[in-house]
Amino acid sequence: FQTGELAGLNVLLNAGPTRENIDPVRYISNHSSGKMGFALAQACVEAGAHVTLVAGPVYMPTPSGVERIDVVSAREMADAVLSRSAQADIFIASAAVVDYTPVEIAENKIKKNASQMQLILVKTIDILTSVATQGSATFCVGFAAETDNLEAYAKDKLEKKSLDMIAANWIGRKNVGFNSENNALSVYWKGGEQELGYMPKSELARELVTLIAKRYHEKNTT
Ligand code: PMT
Repeated sequence: FQTGELAGLNVLLNAGPTRENIDPVRYISNHSSGKMGFALAQACVEAGAHVTLVAGPVYMPTPSGVERIDVVSAREMADAVLSRSAQADIFIASAAVVDYTPVEIAENKIKKNASQMQLILVKTIDILTSVATQGSATFCVGFAAETDNLEAYAKDKLEKKSLDMIAANWIGRKNVGFNSENNALSVYWKGGEQELGYMPKSELARELVTLIAKRYHEKNTT
């Protein structure tokens, strides 16, 4: 890991979960803590980049030198990312964006009168695909969080979302992925792959940033 690897580059990241309100007291979300994304933001600053971090609702201190924008829902995260992505040299999508959101948010607390209830959900915008296909030269790094078929699903997302690189991790297992201190990543790009072993998220972030910088510079000098 070298200090100047991303010198002069604008890096945009998103991190944490989103929160999709059902009514004034309830929401749909997931277990993302923001630890992986915040570690990446810090590693990008250390590598010399100008870093903008769009964060979902998390309890994390802002790494020094990082410009942070706090959002709640997938829609807000999409707006914050997409209004800045054209200026980004690199976009890293570590956020666990909720895939489906309620069609409408009840104005008042929903009463529990019926023994069953149905919620109608609609797909959220795919932020990463929107950035990757917007037509600017942004180098896009996605994440894949999987409970099974890690490699196959990650390679599928690399292709379908038109990404430059994807970092895949297991979720639903002990001490990796969501809310753990450590993690491991299998990183894929067109024509290559690398395993980044089990280690603290801070160290893993530095290793991933080195890989991103290498691929970014290769892409932009050929
Ligand atoms: O926050 P931590 O507790 O440290 O946990 C880290 C992490 C497990 C959340 C992180 O390492 C991770 O895997 N983040 C991606 C989680 C995810 O939503 O993966 P996915 O396979 O469902 O999505 C694939 C990619 O599409 C992701 O880059 C995601 O940001 C993006 N996406 C998904 C849905 C959507 N509507 N918009 C998106 O941009």
